Amino acid sequence: MLKLQKPVLPLPTMYANITKDITLCQRLLQKGELVSVPTETVYGLGANIYDDIAIRKIFALKGRPFFNPLIVHIHHLDQLSTLTKTIPETARRLAGEFWPGPLTLILPKRPEISDLITAGKPTVAVRIPAHPMTLELLQKLDFPIAAPSANPFTCISPTTAQHVADYFGDRIPAILDGGACTVGLESTIIGFEGPTPIVYRKGGISIEAIEALVGGVRLVTENEEAPQAPGMLLKHYAPRTKVVLNDTPQNALQAFEGHKVGILSFTKKHFPGAIHVETLSQTGNLEEAAQKLFAALHRLDEARLDVIIAERFPEKGLGISINDRLERAEN
Ligand code: TXA
Ligand code: MG
Repeated sequence: MLKLQKPVLPLPTMYANITKDITLCQRLLQKGELVSVPTETVYGLGANIYDDIAIRKIFALKGRPFFNPLIVHIHHLDQLSTLTKTIPETARRLAGEFWPGPLTLILPKRPEISDLITAGKPTVAVRIPAHPMTLELLQKLDFPIAAPSANPFTCISPTTAQHVADYFGDRIPAILDGGACTVGLESTIIGFEGPTPIVYRKGGISIEAIEALVGGVRLVTENEEAPQAPGMLLKHYAPRTKVVLNDTPQNALQAFEGHKVGILSFTKKHFPGAIHVETLSQTGNLEEAAQKLFAALHRLDEARLDVIIAERFPEKGLGISINDRLERAEN
């Protein structure tokens, strides 16, 4: 008799470096090792900002070009004076409102801050992340940590410890497991070079929320020749699978008949013929969709599809940041 085989789903590899031990992470960072840290946005790949050898390890592991500067993570506003000489009034108001939280401020740097971190720029990017475990870790250290997102250059950012382990295995001494990131999009980046604040990366805090506090902002977010921020590179946050962005994925489906199609949908809909559908929010909630976006893209990318059709989001609130990531995934 013919025996039907159950399909065997690959189990996630368990890595011993995934840990909840904050003291272990503290010791490793003090010894100049890298530690992946959870934040509310995405997982970071952290190192002591005053240890250039440790900072170089970040660039080597990510395959990141040295022209892309890193974000410095602190736990208290008082630490700002060790990084920057002057804090514009608008920056102070933004920090007061949104820190700890998904906002990065670009401020004039102190000379002690390594050119490796700032890519030789006169400014340094800083934020206070809103994650209790990383805040506790930062409090135990007598230095801030520099941390880019913990993914190979141009890949999708990780929103769980397992995503980080899937990328780097045990090439990171420790991955501090703080659960799934609650915001799920990288921080919004703001600079103060002119009279109007400049948004360099659309992120976890909406433009509307920022403008409600400080008035109009200028958007400078696409420049492939000389990116101010790597998040500005047109091809970024990219799955290996081809991504197509469309206002109505149901219609786009027809063009891919006979192909293995996956769908990334905002709300629940019927997609006849698609073999993998990810719905980001049953109720059409943009915060929930943002939180789930990268994990859904990771799963779709693992599903060996020919194409991922992603639904374009409404251009408001975090929908603007989500569309930005999907457009960069599409290129
Ligand atoms: O949410 C986040 O910001 C996460 C978590 C881990 O904090 N980090 C993150 O880092 O997304 P990364 O390296 O993937 O992106 C850092 C961004 C880049 O776009 C970089 O160019 C920009 O910050 N950046 C850093 N320093 C800068 C500076 N001085 N001027 C302009 N942009 C800067
Ligand atoms: Mg990144």
